[in-house]
Amino acid sequence: MTAMAIRHYLQFSDLTADEYAWIFQRAALIKAKFKAYEKYHPLADRTLAMIFEKASTRTRVSFEAGMYQMGGSVVHLTTGDTQLGRAEPIEDTARVISRMVDLVMIRTFGQDKIERFAAHSRVPVINGLTNEFHPCQILADIFTFIEHRGSIAGKVVAWVGDGNNMANTWLQAAELLGFTVHLSTPSGYEVDQSVAGVRGPASYKVFKDPQDACRGADLVTTDVWTSMGYEAENEARRKAFADWCVDADLMAVARPDALFMHCLPAHRGEEVEAEVIDGPQSVVWDEAENRMHVQKALMEFLLLGRVQG
Ligand code: CP
Ligand code: NVA
Repeated sequence: MTAMAIRHYLQFSDLTADEYAWIFQRAALIKAKFKAYEKYHPLADRTLAMIFEKASTRTRVSFEAGMYQMGGSVVHLTTGDTQLGRAEPIEDTARVISRMVDLVMIRTFGQDKIERFAAHSRVPVINGLTNEFHPCQILADIFTFIEHRGSIAGKVVAWVGDGNNMANTWLQAAELLGFTVHLSTPSGYEVDQSVAGVRGPASYKVFKDPQDACRGADLVTTDVWTSMGYEAENEARRKAFADWCVDADLMAVARPDALFMHCLPAHRGEEVEAEVIDGPQSVVWDEAENRMHVQKALMEFLLLGRVQG
């Protein structure tokens, strides 16, 4: 009997469209069990190690609560309280931790770091955000879209703002799941197609004016002007991004039934106005909650494959 090959989730393109269909279906089922207070412990005796080199609210709580709800346990680690903060090589850290736990989630800076960890890990590794990608967030965003509007195939997602980890991940998702991203970013903050690794331009279009990007969109989404790790650029970014704010005028050119999403944390009055994020088209709280449900389905898939029940 051959051992099941280790599957990592380091970027959105690591799973196939068929596997996403499976995970979305499992997430809906696992969410229904949670809402019905039904005990579901497929990961009993399994341990998840979470390594945070950047701050987090949603990612930590969703993985930690999700793992406990599935019968498992978690170890929470940060740079400051591990030897990573004293320059132990990431490869050695991976070798050691992966002999003791069943699954690892990492939030770090460069994508190269999580790839080096995964290359030396005996267990699946999940990207909990890097400078380049945030696949668990887009997993939750697409699941949320499906819950509210049905399939995302053929739809238009307008991205307003930074060409960052979220934007890169949206591009990968569009190519894989058959929808289009309309990108509008300030000069100097464009998406780098080579980072996203997509073929393009079939799955995305670039617009200078955010109004043009949002026209006819099914979903309008944005993110902070300054991502974690880029704080030194804060002042320059505040100036450059001033016209990239999702307000009621921008939402008015999207489809009347367009949704608004934001991965959070949000800054009202910067990348989004309160009238939008706190308005009727916003689904940001469902989006945040769904992080937990989709990640439970993802962890189940990576550890157990396509289980029934
Ligand atoms: N959206 C998201 O990843 O949030 P946290 O930074 O709070 O984990
Ligand atoms: N782009 C943001 C997302 C935070 C969840 C960041 O990287 O800080």
